[in-house]
This record gives sequence, C-alpha cells and structure tokens, in this order.
Amino acid sequence: MPLLEIQNLAKTYRQMGGETTVAIGEISCKVETGEFVSFVGPSGCGKTTLLMSIAGLIAPSAGQVVIHGKEVSGPPPNLVLVFQDFNKSLFAWRSVLGNVRFGLEARGNHSRQGDGKARSLIDLVGLKGFENHYPWELSGGMQQRVAIARALAYEPEVLLMDEPFGSLDALTRLELEDTLLQLWEELGTTILFITHDIEEAIYLSDRILLLSQRPSRIIEELPINFSRPRNQMLTRAQPGFMEIRNRIYQRIHNESALS
Ligand SMILES: Nc1ncnc2c1ncn2[C@@H]1O[C@H](COP(=O)(O)OP(=O)(O)OP(=O)(O)O)[C@@H](O)[C@H]1O
Ligand SMILES: [Mg+2]
Repeated sequence: MPLLEIQNLAKTYRQMGGETTVAIGEISCKVETGEFVSFVGPSGCGKTTLLMSIAGLIAPSAGQVVIHGKEVSGPPPNLVLVFQDFNKSLFAWRSVLGNVRFGLEARGNHSRQGDGKARSLIDLVGLKGFENHYPWELSGGMQQRVAIARALAYEPEVLLMDEPFGSLDALTRLELEDTLLQLWEELGTTILFITHDIEEAIYLSDRILLLSQRPSRIIEELPINFSRPRNQMLTRAQPGFMEIRNRIYQRIHNESALS
C-alpha cells in the first residue's frame, strides 16, 4: 500500500457572488514512503490548493486523499506543512529555540531533553549561536531555516512544502536545498515539494509531477535518477540535467500555447 494516495481529487471554489473557480480539474497519484516528489506547474494552477487538500485544510469537491489507507478529513497527525511565507509562519514572540521547541511540544515532548534535540536541529540547519534570537532579528534565509527545523522537530512522516525557497536569494536557496536534502536523507521523511523552479525540482526530487494550467491535472510524470547525494555543481552539470529541464520547459510552454 502506498503511504499516500490522491484519488480523483478535484476542487472548485465558490465565491460569495455565486461565481466559481475550478482550481483542480482532477488529480490522481501515489507517493511511496521516503520519496521526494515535486509538483511543478504554472502560477495560479492550483498547487497550494493541492497541498492544502493533502494537509486536510481544504475539503475537496470530489475525490479524496488517503494516507495509510485512511481518508484525510482533517489535519492528519503525522503531517506538517511549511508555507511559502515564512515571515508569517514563525512565532514572533518565541526565540529560535522556542520556535523549534514548539515542534517538539506539539508532539507532547516538554522534557528538558527536548532542549537538546531542538539545539541539535538548530545546529543541523546551520543556526548554531542564534538560539536566543527572535525571528525579526534574522534574515529571510535564516527564518526559513528555523521553519524547516521546527517542522522536522515534529518528526512528521510527511513533510509538505509550498515553494519554501521562493523568496530567497539564489545562493541561500542553493544552500537550503542541500540542507533539506541532507535532513531528508538522514531522517527518511517523505517530502512533497512545490516549486515553479524547474531546475530546483530536478535537483531535489526522485520524481516530478508536472501540472497543467488551471484547472490543474497531471500532464507528465518524470522519474529523476541522478545519483545521491546530489551536488550543486556535478548534478546540475550532468548532460541529462539540461535535457530534462528543456523537456519540462517545452511541455509547459506547449501546454500554455494550447490554452
Ligand atoms: N480561498 C479561495 N477562494 C476562492 N478562490 C481561490 C481560493 N484560493 C485559491 N483560489 C483560486 O484557485 C486558483 C488556484 O490557486 P492556488 O493558490 O492553489 O494556485 P497556485 O498554483 O498555488 O498559485 P501560485 O503559483 O501563485 O502560488 C486561483 O485561480 C485562485 O484564485
Ligand atoms: Mg501557491
């Protein structure tokens, strides 16, 4: 049985005036334990809607999301969502340590050993020395590192990430991609990642699901077989890397020309 299954999921939003927006046409896919799967699709195609539905925060109009054979009907206990807007997602009144500890407390771990665990995660995301700083004292990249450490402190079985590096500068983004891959390899978490950066998706993923324009559906599924651990210079320099990038670009381009 796959860890997670999206079965004929569709979502239509109904506005107050009676207008409707069909965000997700119909999406079906399966995700296995430990996989790193990315969804890539054009702006506004319904990516956030898809993740929110998986996280049980939006009720689908049709179809369902199934985790461990059970239909998702509210936020599942073994899943965490990292939002794009890290400015709004951290607790401003809690220090870095306090934010990461929150992930543990949410799991019921209020012990003093929890402190050690939070500190080692802070270390892992490269923020040693900033434990007592508050979110507003950190750069955007540092805040996103805190958000990732807090999410991982919860030890989720499934980590959903909605364009988590979208508003970071290019260098910080590359660094955080590697931090995330290192943590994923160490912890064995299953990751569903959303990005509209095609190269980022290829660099990180085991598999890419390409979404159409709204109403979204899966137009292609691409396995990504580059060896791990990946390397920003070597992996991206592989001849196959650009081939896949161009193929995805072409596919999205053709799709938008059709609509
Ligand atoms: N709460 C809502 N009520 C009504 N319409 C909504 C709501 N949320 C999203 N939509 C509409 O659904 C469509 C998909 O939105 P969604 O945010 O899922 O797209 P996205 O692919 O994440 O976009 P982006 O690339 O900009 O992040 C859009 O047309 C949007 O206007
Ligand atoms: Mg979005």
